[in-house]
Amino acid sequence: MTINKTVFITGGARRIGLATAKYLHDEGYNIIISYNKSNKDAKKIFTELNSYRKNSCQVIKIDFLSIKDYESISKKIIKFFGRVDVLVNNASRFYPTQINKINEKNWHDIIDTNLKSALFFSKSFYPELKKRKGCIINIVDIHVNPPLKDHIIYNISKAGLLALTKTLAKDLAPSIRVNSISPGAIMWAEADAKKINKQKEILSKIPLNKTGSPNDIAKAILFLIKDADYITGQNINIDGGRKLNM
Ligand SMILES: NC(=O)c1ccc[n+]([C@@H]2O[C@H](COP(=O)([O-])OP(=O)(O)OC[C@H]3O[C@@H](n4cnc5c(N)ncnc54)[C@H](OP(=O)(O)O)[C@@H]3O)[C@@H](O)[C@H]2O)c1
Repeated sequence: MTINKTVFITGGARRIGLATAKYLHDEGYNIIISYNKSNKDAKKIFTELNSYRKNSCQVIKIDFLSIKDYESISKKIIKFFGRVDVLVNNASRFYPTQINKINEKNWHDIIDTNLKSALFFSKSFYPELKKRKGCIINIVDIHVNPPLKDHIIYNISKAGLLALTKTLAKDLAPSIRVNSISPGAIMWAEADAKKINKQKEILSKIPLNKTGSPNDIAKAILFLIKDADYITGQNINIDGGRKLNM
């Protein structure tokens, strides 16, 4: 199946972004992925998706800490397939930042990646998305509210991303729909991969008693792209019910 539509996913070479790229590609979309450090993973997905369907995937290296000009990068991204219909702001930095240890370096690291990139890509893709009657999907986090202890900068970045979602839904209507998805425990953060007790404690608070899969997020993204013509400014929690116990 091929659809003449293109989805651009930031930070899409690994984990949830990668699963989303593969899922939407299976549904016929052309895929553009930005990556930063994951060159090998980006090459792999480029080869894999283009072997399934010729000229259906492009990858581009972007570091949100050093990007100078969102406008020219966005033009380059649009040129790959001649259009962009969907922007998925997925790239993220996640680690604790206790109040007494924060500094400008981790402020820029987290805010520029999680929030600034989404705002400035929304601005630079605005004319293209308007032309395509496209949509923007921001990947937030259930921990945006209540906030996650000792993660002040991350919490601010995701709260900002949720505010951005709602603001843009108003400002870019009626031509562009803007929604967000807040994952719960989908894939353990790499730093928590071996913290079995911490994982058990989190699982005990999830009514469905399991982690989600990256495809749970990908399916919701597809729904927002394809079957949600009358939905904008909304946030969908995908968390196995975890929000009920927060
Ligand atoms: N995993 C979960 O269970 C969970 C829970 C709640 C919310 N979320 C949200 O869901 C989304 C996906 O989660 P995830 O765990 O798959 O994300 P992740 O692996 O933590 O990060 C996704 C990608 O962001 C990119 N990135 C980081 N810093 C960057 C920078 N300075 N410039 C450009 N790209 C940068 C990385 O690309 P490179 O690898 O190429 O450097 C990374 O692969 C994120 O927004 C996350 O906050 C996830």
